[in-house]
Amino acid sequence: MTEIDHRPRAGVSGQLSSLADLRPAPVGQPSVPTMTSLPTGAPPASGDSRASPASVDGRASAAHGQPERAAPTDGPIALYGGAGGPAAPQPTKPRKPVRVPTLSRMKRKGTRISAVTCYDATFARLVDEAGIDVVLVGDSLGNVVQGQESTLPVTLDDVLYHTRAVRRGLLRAHLVADLPFMTYYNPAVALPNAARLMAEGGAHAVKLEGGVDAAPVISALVASGIPVMGHIGLTPQSVHAMGGHRVQGRGHAERERILRDAHAVQAAGAYAVVLEGIPSRLAAEITAELTIPTIGIGAGVGCDGQILVLYDMLGLNPGFTPKFLKRFAELGAATRDALARYADEVQAGTFPTEAHSYSDPTLERDPPLKAVP
Ligand code: KIV
Repeated sequence: MTEIDHRPRAGVSGQLSSLADLRPAPVGQPSVPTMTSLPTGAPPASGDSRASPASVDGRASAAHGQPERAAPTDGPIALYGGAGGPAAPQPTKPRKPVRVPTLSRMKRKGTRISAVTCYDATFARLVDEAGIDVVLVGDSLGNVVQGQESTLPVTLDDVLYHTRAVRRGLLRAHLVADLPFMTYYNPAVALPNAARLMAEGGAHAVKLEGGVDAAPVISALVASGIPVMGHIGLTPQSVHAMGGHRVQGRGHAERERILRDAHAVQAAGAYAVVLEGIPSRLAAEITAELTIPTIGIGAGVGCDGQILVLYDMLGLNPGFTPKFLKRFAELGAATRDALARYADEVQAGTFPTEAHSYSDPTLERDPPLKAVP
């Protein structure tokens, strides 16, 4: 059996600076609204447009190799987060939101579905702007955000927290939230948990792992109006039962088992199914047999769509190199390099400069303050 390396992967510090100046948005760059008053924190309504003439200073110019910016004028200070911060969705061109029927239509038309995992509003905004169709708040957050060995310690509250954050960054993408380990072992347990992800988290659907065994839970959720994405093949919540993260569905009996799982998930009412870690021929066969879209990870090109863990495909975990993964960027190396240059400049006293500092015009008029007793 092929073992897929799912060791804990270094997460990224989510710590963001809380202040930024404002200046006009450079041509061709998304603008960020002025944050003169704090938002209520309500999730954006679909189709909500928040374009504004101002942009947070320094985000683009701080990039490696970009020229130093001109000194900004003092003005309202943008705060991170919420409706006015840089995490707010920045629509480029209006596109119809992706919902459950959209995905069915895409399957019928043969239009491939792009999906990634996501865990916060800042990345969600970028993912949405890039035109990704489906965003999953996966319990892989246990690995990549929390640094856990497996997804088993992830709680419903963890997924709920990240789902709310991602929801605030999305305008178009279809948002799916994972039901974590032991939160759906029977319909009575699954219903209130799934309902929380939808009602409190703003998810459009939930995902759960399992085939034939999970069918009664899928049916109960679907009967209550909760769209369910299935997940079969390599199911990380069963890591101990599988004896590791191993490719599934090899050999006649195993192939039949996975095929039965796929049909059971569809018959129970799931609107889509993730096929993880199975041979590409089996995935293609399942895709041809099912009427619901299949979304593959480590399942070859013959699926209706593909999903990758965001941090992995962006190269944030350079040590994680399973066969199925393609890195579309090297943000791990870029992040380390940026932080090292920042540390050097702080040490050398070359950051901040006058251009990054505030002035007080009254100081030129008024006598200097006496020492406060
Ligand atoms: O939790 C997760 O990220 C997932 C995807 C890999 C499909 O389930």
